[in-house]
Amino acid sequence: MAFISSGYNPEKPMEGRITDIGPQHFDKFLPPVIKNNFGKWLYHEILEPGLLVHVAESGDKVYTIRCGAARLMSVTLIREVCDIADKYCGGHLRFTTRNNIEFMVETEEDAKALKKHLNDQKFDGGSYKFPVGGTGAGVTNIVHTQGWVHCHTPATDASGTVKATMDEVFEEFTHMRLPAPVRISMACCLNMCGAVHCSDISILGIHRKPPMIDHEYLDNLCEIPLAVAACPTGAIRPSKVEIDGKSFKTVAVKEERCMFCGNCYTMCPSMPLSDKEGDGIALMVGGKISNRISKPAFSKVVVPFIPNEPPRWPTMTKTIRKILDAYAKGANKYERLGDWATRIGWERFFEVCELPFTEHLIDDFRDPAYYTWRQTSQFKW
Ligand code: HEM
Ligand code: HEM
Ligand code: SF4
Ligand code: SF4
Repeated sequence: MAFISSGYNPEKPMEGRITDIGPQHFDKFLPPVIKNNFGKWLYHEILEPGLLVHVAESGDKVYTIRCGAARLMSVTLIREVCDIADKYCGGHLRFTTRNNIEFMVETEEDAKALKKHLNDQKFDGGSYKFPVGGTGAGVTNIVHTQGWVHCHTPATDASGTVKATMDEVFEEFTHMRLPAPVRISMACCLNMCGAVHCSDISILGIHRKPPMIDHEYLDNLCEIPLAVAACPTGAIRPSKVEIDGKSFKTVAVKEERCMFCGNCYTMCPSMPLSDKEGDGIALMVGGKISNRISKPAFSKVVVPFIPNEPPRWPTMTKTIRKILDAYAKGANKYERLGDWATRIGWERFFEVCELPFTEHLIDDFRDPAYYTWRQTSQFKW
């Protein structure tokens, strides 16, 4: 391909350089009805799944149609989104904090027409391009990460696990029949980019084997003290090895202290640990970030390991379905998954979700682990 210059001159890299200009002001992109009624909204209603109306003091109304999106998308698809916005919304649209797409129109008629149009669009393989939903007490989009598409530390894939899960729970995206919203999040390693530590249901990539050590190159590629300091359990110490009569500065890992977090690999390229059979998924549940009734909560590990089963991860999706069904059946209105589990007791949660409880689920990380054990005689048989 022939090189086409943008005008940048590599001989004088600082010449004509523009910097620190920040993002565009959001004001520039507001639809007129939002701009005119900014800060003057009275109330809103969810008319049907995926369709909201906001009413302003002036009497103005804005109808919002929300549709699902794969987050990872081509410019071709974005152009299609723009075409829809040009046709129905005066060229305006927005993306939500869970990577859904919202189109805004000013009459209910237009909203219904647009909803139908969006639900009619399909990819050649048959999947909906813009399924409308994601509002109220249902399952909305899955906040997720890079996986095998782009990161170097994952223990599983993001886009693949998310597609498999959303296919399984699709009906809940287009309905609002759960006790409260269920947020599902996904992270492909325990760096937890995103929201897995604070979601109702979380999919998390984990390793089960300690890092391999490339002694010959380690000192050339890594700042050894950083690798040592990266370890949460003190499993790494500096050491020396002899290979073919040559002495190398390197590290040693005490394997019985290693819990496979992969932090050392993030710091040091000579300590890779991903492994086809060893890697897989842990499921966590019961987190939330809102302050509604109960305070925000971390999610807890309830399934320590599910193998990676690309491309559809059937064991994982079945387990998620089981948890979701037990919650939908057992929880009271407005109860988030964690509120429900806390009310019935975690021993009951494991019973109704038919999940085995194993020693992996008992916290053993430093002093705070103690507070997760039961210091009371109150429990149910
Ligand atoms: C005075 C102004 C507003 C107030 C007091 C307000 C209040 C609320 C409240 C209480 C919720 C529910 C939150 C929850 O269930 O956790 C909500 C949701 C929402 N609002 Fe507003 N809102 C206002 C203006 C707007 C405007 C101008 C828009 C966009 C046109 C908007 C879009 C949304 C959306 C998309 C949701 C999410 C609904 C869902 O998750 O199902 N809001 N708002
Ligand atoms: C090895 C460490 C990490 C690498 C290589 C990495 C890399 C990336 C990359 C390439 C993106 C996509 C940026 C884009 O779309 O232009 C991204 C997005 C993001 N990262 Fe990281 N990241 C790392 C660690 C973290 C951590 C520790 C957190 C949070 C505590 C985090 C939070 C996020 C978030 C929230 C996004 C935006 C996701 C979205 O909405 O699309 N990242 N990261
Ligand atoms: S969660 Fe881990 S593997 Fe996934 S994108 Fe973030 S750092 Fe990479
Ligand atoms: S994987 Fe984690 S626990 Fe194991 S040696 Fe590396 S930093 Fe320590």
